[in-house]
Amino acid sequence: MGMATLTALLRTGSFLSFRGRLIPPAKEVETVRYPKECVLKECVEAVIRPLEPGDRPLLDAFYSRIPESDRWFMNYDVMDTAVMDTWFDAVEKGSICSILALCNETVVGQGSLYLRGFGATRHVGRFRIVVLPEYRQMRLGTWLLLDLIQLAMDQGLEMLRADLVAGVEDGAIEAVKKFDFFKFAELKEYMMDIQGNRQDMVIMVKRLHKEWSDF
Ligand SMILES: CC(C)(COP(=O)(O)OP(=O)(O)OC[C@H]1O[C@@H](n2cnc3c(N)ncnc32)[C@H](O)[C@@H]1OP(=O)(O)O)[C@@H](O)C(=O)NCCC(=O)NCCS
Repeated sequence: MGMATLTALLRTGSFLSFRGRLIPPAKEVETVRYPKECVLKECVEAVIRPLEPGDRPLLDAFYSRIPESDRWFMNYDVMDTAVMDTWFDAVEKGSICSILALCNETVVGQGSLYLRGFGATRHVGRFRIVVLPEYRQMRLGTWLLLDLIQLAMDQGLEMLRADLVAGVEDGAIEAVKKFDFFKFAELKEYMMDIQGNRQDMVIMVKRLHKEWSDF
């Protein structure tokens, strides 16, 4: 399926979803159901499901295969056991919604939605998607993004935000633009890459609607 077709399906509210069935427009679908089967390029099949407490070894194995240069731009150190303990606690408490993509019981991608849950930015969700290098450019990131958008809508959020690095994460910047994210702000030379060079941070934002059919 082409990106244009996928976008058109989303705009009309007819969202191709799990098990290859066309599910009715969002109005009739209150919750996202898992596991969600998706077909990637070259007919590779993946399953998306929520992260579970027992997934720690699978997730550790996943991050050990993510290049350090990619992990550098995450907001926390996924290789640090104590940090990941705290992170799993946050998932348990519901301030992080995380989904995994698996192929043959191996995690090949992860998407996480961060909820403030309080105060002036409680209507804004932040997200991060990471895909194994050998599974990139196969549409897995797109599937994970679609699912995170749905989760954000389920949570009643009004905005989704991703902080990306110009010149480093341009692929991701272009990808989210296809789903109506726009450049909200740019912080010049705000970030430092792994070599110590200053890079611009781009804040990409998407306004959310209560239902897909509101688009
Ligand atoms: C960004 C990332 C999640 C994309 O995942 P992916 O599975 O490769 O994404 P997709 O295959 O669904 O690609 C979707 C679109 O992204 C764009 N894209 C992805 N990688 C790209 C690259 N290296 N260069 C240019 N465009 C790229 C393309 O526009 C593509 O659309 P197209 O296939 O219609 O051309 C993945 O590259 C990754 O894990 N990168 C490291 C972490 C990161 O940068 N995360 C972004 C934070 S949200």
